[in-house]
Amino acid sequence: MKYNFDEIVNRRGTYSIKWDGGELLKEIGLTDRYDEETIPLFTADMDLPVPQPLIEALHKTVDHRIFGYTIFPKEYFEAIQHWFKKRHDWDIPQEDISFSPGTVHALNVAVKALTNPGDGIIIQRPVYPPFTSAIEANGRKVMNNPLKANSEGYYQIDFEDFEAKAKDETTKMFILCNPHNPTGRVFTKEELKKLANICAKHDVLIVADEIHGDLVRRNQTFIPIAKATEHGERIITFTAINKTFNVAGLHCTNVIISNPELRKTYNTVMGMHLPSPFTVSALIAVYNEGDEWLEQLKDYIDGTMEWAVQFLAEKMPKVKVRIPEGTYIMWMDFSEYGLSPEEIHDRIYNKANVLLEDGKMFGEEGLQWQRICIPSPRPLIQEAFERIAREFEDVR
Ligand SMILES: Cc1ncc(COP(=O)(O)O)c(C=O)c1O
Repeated sequence: MKYNFDEIVNRRGTYSIKWDGGELLKEIGLTDRYDEETIPLFTADMDLPVPQPLIEALHKTVDHRIFGYTIFPKEYFEAIQHWFKKRHDWDIPQEDISFSPGTVHALNVAVKALTNPGDGIIIQRPVYPPFTSAIEANGRKVMNNPLKANSEGYYQIDFEDFEAKAKDETTKMFILCNPHNPTGRVFTKEELKKLANICAKHDVLIVADEIHGDLVRRNQTFIPIAKATEHGERIITFTAINKTFNVAGLHCTNVIISNPELRKTYNTVMGMHLPSPFTVSALIAVYNEGDEWLEQLKDYIDGTMEWAVQFLAEKMPKVKVRIPEGTYIMWMDFSEYGLSPEEIHDRIYNKANVLLEDGKMFGEEGLQWQRICIPSPRPLIQEAFERIAREFEDVR
């Protein structure tokens, strides 16, 4: 079936945080302006309809009319195993798979279960802000190993600094984000092996957030870190249908732990969580029948990225941006304008009325940057970029 991702589906009035969450977004300080004309592109949540087999599976669940406590059936695990074998050549035994109602939740559980207050945890800023919160809110210590952008804006790992941080005797965990949000890096096998070797040498556990792993560009290969290294028994991996299939509201994260002891400790702190019947039927549907949709989606996102990069080169040449290797996130450097972060924010959020995320949320490394999520109908993305470009015409 051919999907029409250009179609604009009105999400207002559906309890969407993007489209109905204005008051909350103002309250948490993301923006001062939010009204009927706001184009919200701040969060990793697609405005695109999901695969047809998923809609059919959910209809079937609704039509049953009873939504009681639900088990994880064999087909659920088989669907996960099938997907990761087929898409990433990764064999996952059934007993390695646990469930979490969300990745951020899983991250907090991992921090609580597997480290102690005061322990150091390495992250690579600029990075998805809940990594920092999971560390600080639980009384652990951030050990930042900043990713370094070269003159072309291509981010690389500073391994010397990484090893110095890993060597610190308080350091117990490394939270990897791959593909990396917001820089879009998809780390190579060599990089992953090197990280895993350093962690093994210094007895540092790895928590790998790989929830963007299905969403990489056509010329890229995503490699799960647990597959890239022989130190898989020291790794906890999170993957999800959330980002891949636009079902964040169904709350379903796969937690993969091959080490039985680690798994037991993790699951004890996690406690028992049964899924909803919608989660189970959704996961089985998308992992078994979602490829056709995903292939079309990837082409669509690649096309929007190419359009955006070309538009910026023509209309806002001072914005430095690359097509990311993975994710549907673009990370844009506004520093060449010589404007303060507040002035950049004012022009985009208040004047253009487009809601993005200020780079400073991802760490001080992102002060002059803006993050935009582009998995929306292309006409909407085009309007957002045009509005922003108009507000920067005087400093072009
Ligand atoms: C790297 C990363 N991890 C986790 C999440 C959130 O996942 P969840 O909704 O499953 O908590 C996001 C959402 O944008 C993300 O980008």
